[in-house]
Amino acid sequence: MNLAQAAQARPPGDPGGENVLRLADVTVRFGGITAVDAVTLDVPGGQVVGLIGPNGAGKTTLLDSVSGLRTPTEGRIVLDGADVTARTASWLSRHGIRRTFQRHQAFGWLTVRQNVLVPLEWRTRGRGLLGDLLGLPHRRRETEALLQRVDEVVELCGLSDVRDVSAATLPIGRLRLLEFARAIVDSPRLLLLDEPTSGLGQRETELLREVLLGLVRRHELTVILVEHDVDFVMGLADRVVCLVQGAVLADGTPAEIRRNPEVIAAYLGN
Ligand SMILES: Nc1ncnc2c1ncn2[C@@H]1O[C@H](COP(=O)(O)OP(=O)(O)OP(=O)(O)O)[C@@H](O)[C@H]1O
Ligand SMILES: [Mg+2]
Repeated sequence: MNLAQAAQARPPGDPGGENVLRLADVTVRFGGITAVDAVTLDVPGGQVVGLIGPNGAGKTTLLDSVSGLRTPTEGRIVLDGADVTARTASWLSRHGIRRTFQRHQAFGWLTVRQNVLVPLEWRTRGRGLLGDLLGLPHRRRETEALLQRVDEVVELCGLSDVRDVSAATLPIGRLRLLEFARAIVDSPRLLLLDEPTSGLGQRETELLREVLLGLVRRHELTVILVEHDVDFVMGLADRVVCLVQGAVLADGTPAEIRRNPEVIAAYLGN
């Protein structure tokens, strides 16, 4: 079953049709460069949107805007009906937007488990969950439920055998999976993935595909997937958007995008 079929298989009454994310004329300029050019996009809940396009097309900049790292120069970003254009990255992450980066952002000096715990720390309202884990036994009980969640996700991402190893010692593929684990551990509503297969071996790519499929099937998870591995993105996405020079060149099903002559000329044919 692919994701489109999984979405159709949702039980009646499941709120799959509401727009989780709405981008209205989002523009990002760096001096004279228009990196994102009046992008308008509605993303319904549960949809997996593949975002493709040549190097420099503005894909990462668009994810930066949606995740609050870069306020758009113009336009609006609406999450679940609320304007979040000026919200900070930490506010957005606490309200269900999680992401991975093109270059992994793991903390090398922490173990795999500790790394996956960090995104949950805010849930202890500043009581220092990580400090508890690292040193204070009497407060450890409080953290057990969260640690259980950490271990579930570590296992899901195939990292159980290295869970107590410091991240700095991991090869790149496993670091990328660690970053993915960190992005999903707090059960996001909207997951933004920036080239998640880069650095992964074939088996790791397959694992990532299976985990993503499972998450989308079981939860109301909405995904924007930036990816240069065309087969990976076409196999997972319900819908593919092709960005060129910051603007939407095409928006359609994977099959439509694959045969779109403009997309072939600008990107797929290269
Ligand atoms: N911080 C910045 N300052 C100035 N220009 C930037 C900055 N970040 C990105 N750009 C420019 O914005 C444009 C879009 O870059 P972006 O990284 O979003 O592209 P991309 O589609 O993610 O490319 P790639 O596939 O190579 O990752 C490029 O022209 C890039 O040089
Ligand atoms: Mg990029």
